[in-house]
Amino acid sequence: MSIELTEPAPETGTSNGNALAPAVRVRGARRTYTAELAPVRALRGVDFDVMPGEFVAVMGPSGCGKSTLLNIIAGLDTLDDGTVEVAGERVDGRDQDWLAKFRRHHVGFVFQFFNLLDGVSALENLVLPGVLGGMKRRAAESRARDLLDLLGLGDRTDQVPAVLSGGQRQRLAIARALVNEPGLLLADEPTGALDSEGGLEILELFRRLHDDGQTIVMVTHSADVAAGASRAVKMRDGRVQDAGE
Ligand SMILES: Nc1ncnc2c1ncn2[C@@H]1O[C@H](COP(=O)(O)OP(=O)(O)OP(=O)(O)O)[C@@H](O)[C@H]1O
Ligand SMILES: [Mg+2]
Repeated sequence: MSIELTEPAPETGTSNGNALAPAVRVRGARRTYTAELAPVRALRGVDFDVMPGEFVAVMGPSGCGKSTLLNIIAGLDTLDDGTVEVAGERVDGRDQDWLAKFRRHHVGFVFQFFNLLDGVSALENLVLPGVLGGMKRRAAESRARDLLDLLGLGDRTDQVPAVLSGGQRQRLAIARALVNEPGLLLADEPTGALDSEGGLEILELFRRLHDDGQTIVMVTHSADVAAGASRAVKMRDGRVQDAGE
């Protein structure tokens, strides 16, 4: 598994060669949602740093802004104020095309409910993002098979997600997130839909990726899962309450 920050995608015009740059640097992040009754201040001035190779767990009560933070790091949501840098590159203020390319090459995202393509095989779930990321189909297939082997799904290549267990589906979703060798792996409650055994299996997988140098930010409600990370950040009411150590 590659642990390097991926080569900047030429078409994005990025230049992230600075290995000393934080993997993630968020400053003064504010995000308010308009809601019927009153505005919801999801992020109220968040500073958040992740160094390359760190495995950071983000914890905090429901509604404190964890998913919002992850989404603004991935460029899936926009800020009202503040800045976001990933691998030395400003993410805030970019247009949708730039963000789509940036995500394809630099960020892998794992969701609580897998978000796999139901109609196609495990293999195809990996090949498609590879091809979208610029790989030739044959190269994408080879990468997909390697990842499926690595994640213990080598005998499931032709099966559709529906026949896989929850843990297997999440492993497939993690494999998909890794297809384009992202420098940063973001996961929003990746064990939230699994039983405790399945959850620990996924945690073990994240730990292996971390041992190989993968930078990971993972939101979790589970203290057991967070204990497996190298640092736990606690959020509350749209702020970082404790940046951990
Ligand atoms: N698109 C949206 N429109 C309106 N309000 C939103 C939107 N997204 C999030 N919120 C609100 O912003 C606040 C923070 O939401 P967020 O999803 O970041 O919380 P969370 O910490 O991830 O919670 P959970 O642990 O339940 O997933 C919540 O009050 C939520 O209801
Ligand atoms: Mg959430």
